[in-house]
Amino acid sequence: MAKTNPLPGTSDIFFPEITDWQNVENAVKKIFLRYGYSELRTPIFERTAVFTKGIGGETDIVQKEMYTFTDRGNRSLTLRPEGTAGVMRALADQGFDQNEEKRVYYFGPMFRGERPAAGRKRQFHQIGVECAGTVSPAIDAENIIMLVRYLEYVGLKKFSVQLNSRGTPEDIKSVAEILRKIFAENIAQMCEDCQRRLKTNVWRILDCKQDACQEYIEKTPELLQYYSQESREYFEEVCSLLDSVDIKYEKNPRLVRGLDYYVHTVFEVTHSGLGAQDAIAGGGRYLIPVAGVKKPVAGVGFALGVERLLMARESEDVICDMSSLLDVFLISLGEKAAEKNFQIAEELRARDISVQIPYLRKSMKSQMRAANKSGAAFTLILGEDELEKGIIQCRNMLDGTQDELSLISLTETVKKML
Ligand code: HAM
Repeated sequence: MAKTNPLPGTSDIFFPEITDWQNVENAVKKIFLRYGYSELRTPIFERTAVFTKGIGGETDIVQKEMYTFTDRGNRSLTLRPEGTAGVMRALADQGFDQNEEKRVYYFGPMFRGERPAAGRKRQFHQIGVECAGTVSPAIDAENIIMLVRYLEYVGLKKFSVQLNSRGTPEDIKSVAEILRKIFAENIAQMCEDCQRRLKTNVWRILDCKQDACQEYIEKTPELLQYYSQESREYFEEVCSLLDSVDIKYEKNPRLVRGLDYYVHTVFEVTHSGLGAQDAIAGGGRYLIPVAGVKKPVAGVGFALGVERLLMARESEDVICDMSSLLDVFLISLGEKAAEKNFQIAEELRARDISVQIPYLRKSMKSQMRAANKSGAAFTLILGEDELEKGIIQCRNMLDGTQDELSLISLTETVKKML
């Protein structure tokens, strides 16, 4: 058969892997609702300006990674590379009353034209939240707490929260001047991108991963000392709120994040079970320019990379929640049994029991193999003998034990066993 692989950096997600995806998605609702977030679904493509304006022209995403195309109406459109810009466009479109707070979460595919590698895809999925409209260190702290609670809920232990502050927009400007002076001395030894960044957006230099630049980046002094009192107090408040509920974090003065909209708090969660792409989540407070809105909109949020989250769970051997797997696999031996099973399957399903039933007439051995693969909790086997006696064989797929169940009370019995 011809090979029909998906494009590099994209994947098909089949059963049983999909069960893990569903588990982490279900956990989103459970945890984020506790903090008052409701779901928002935005379009997968937007006007290109939503991202160039929102994320910042000097970021890697806008410079090199966006899937941008011109549609038949000659409009420049882009597949969303992240969620925040589109979500804020949608929220601003609805309008904000004074001091109104909007809390939303989202889940879905994002697109970045990066070189595919382990944990780095071109179509990947994010679970994200945004709390827009109000500003307080307590919301920033609550965001980080919610992220940690979520990660704990889905079974992760080996993660670390990195925390830093970017300061107010004024601090960002004045510290940029200081950074420019510091890096100007050795810029000739630094990479070409950093030479450009010195002029266009010097903060991005701190994010550079090139070996040639690391030596100089590591030598930069602690920047918090140059921030305004307001920024330092804001950061201290976030830290003390996290301390008050025992959330562990590390201050990381080099953390600037790859998007330009951040102010004040920035954070990232890394996991020791991943390779080079070890960030499972990132976020922070931001001021994001939205087309048609005079002032940038304030918010705080984060996004989790689902592929990396699942890799992290696998590295910690987190057992997938069996409750969402198939309940019953129904095997028929002979025509009459097949006809009866067709009805039994419907009766079971009417009581919310999930059933898989093969319709092609196959041998017992081959149907049993399919039952093993299906992940069903129980396999029910009906042959001519059983039909005559008014019973059905029931195999518990976890411990291998087998019982005879009466056909008359079958639905009730199976319901109780699950
Ligand atoms: P980000 O750091 O660009 O932030 O992405 C968040 C997460 O998405 C990363 O930590 C990573 O797990 C995952 N991710 C990013 N790129 C890829 C890729 N190519 N392949 C696989 N996973 C990837 C944002 O997107 C911000 N919008 C987060 C945010 C929300 N900030 C405030 N609100």
